[in-house]
Amino acid sequence: MAGRWKNDLGWSDVTPKVAWMNRRQIMFAAGAATFGAIAGPVQAKLGAAASQYSTAETPNTLEEVTSFNNFYEFGTGKEDPKRNAHTLTTDGWQVEIDGLVERPGTWSMDDVLKGTSLEERIYRLRCVEGWSMVIPWVGFELADLLNRAGVQPGAKYVAFETALRPDEMPGTRTRVLEWPYVEGLRLDEAMNPLTILATGLYDEPIPNQNGAPIRLVVPWKYGFKSIKSIVRITLTEDEPPTSWNKAIPREYGFYSNVNPEVDHPRWSQATERRIGGGLFVKRIPTQKFNGYGDEVAGLYTGMDLSKFY
Ligand code: MTE
Repeated sequence: MAGRWKNDLGWSDVTPKVAWMNRRQIMFAAGAATFGAIAGPVQAKLGAAASQYSTAETPNTLEEVTSFNNFYEFGTGKEDPKRNAHTLTTDGWQVEIDGLVERPGTWSMDDVLKGTSLEERIYRLRCVEGWSMVIPWVGFELADLLNRAGVQPGAKYVAFETALRPDEMPGTRTRVLEWPYVEGLRLDEAMNPLTILATGLYDEPIPNQNGAPIRLVVPWKYGFKSIKSIVRITLTEDEPPTSWNKAIPREYGFYSNVNPEVDHPRWSQATERRIGGGLFVKRIPTQKFNGYGDEVAGLYTGMDLSKFY
């Protein structure tokens, strides 16, 4: 059954080309209400309103965002996810929400999306490897889902887990990482309005290589914190293990906030290469907290960030 998050009709099937080409500008100007008139299954994605948190920078193209990826479950090459991730079946997807919550249980994607309003969030994504993109996600605040599950007072962290399906994910038949891929946030980071769960990008359901049907996006942290294809969210009292920290603890910490002043042990983090500009494009300066310091610097008051790579 087609849920709100996945539709057979594409935006371009129901929209004049000119509007399709200018969709973000139009949505920005007119707001979501304009699209209320378009009935049926496409309404949810067309209704994704623009956000005060979006950057005005030009997004990378859909082609760039979907053909240069890190998703080790489908291989370690940047083009492997695009080539291999079509084998992931996302129909009937379920997310287990457990641990220190009032209402633990198994949520279908319809449950997850019930009552949420999808928003477009155009965020910078800065990978620890030194490249970056600007991506127009469609999603909703993680806080919204956690509040619906009911966070118990003892909870201090949120742990996330990606699906582990060796039949569908060729990379998990190798030992390049310990599977499943796991990540975590401190509860206040998880509740920050910048932290979203994305179910779409470019007004379409999120492609498999980008983490279908639901992935985390934490724009002020290095990209590896933004875990894909989530099947489990667990509220915990203790700091949960994270995949890259387990793999190489002296290179990847739990916090991993973007910080041009603290170099990775093997390379500088001072600058980044914006994908799409060509191989020889000048690198641009990396911003502290990836430019989101106004919203999140306060979360780390009193912490020596140079010690929390
Ligand atoms: N999530 C899972 N499950 N497996 C991964 O290998 N790679 C991470 C992150 N989430 C990864 C993952 C890394 S290193 C980055 S930079 C981003 O996804 C890339 O997201 P994108 O491919 O959508 O740009």
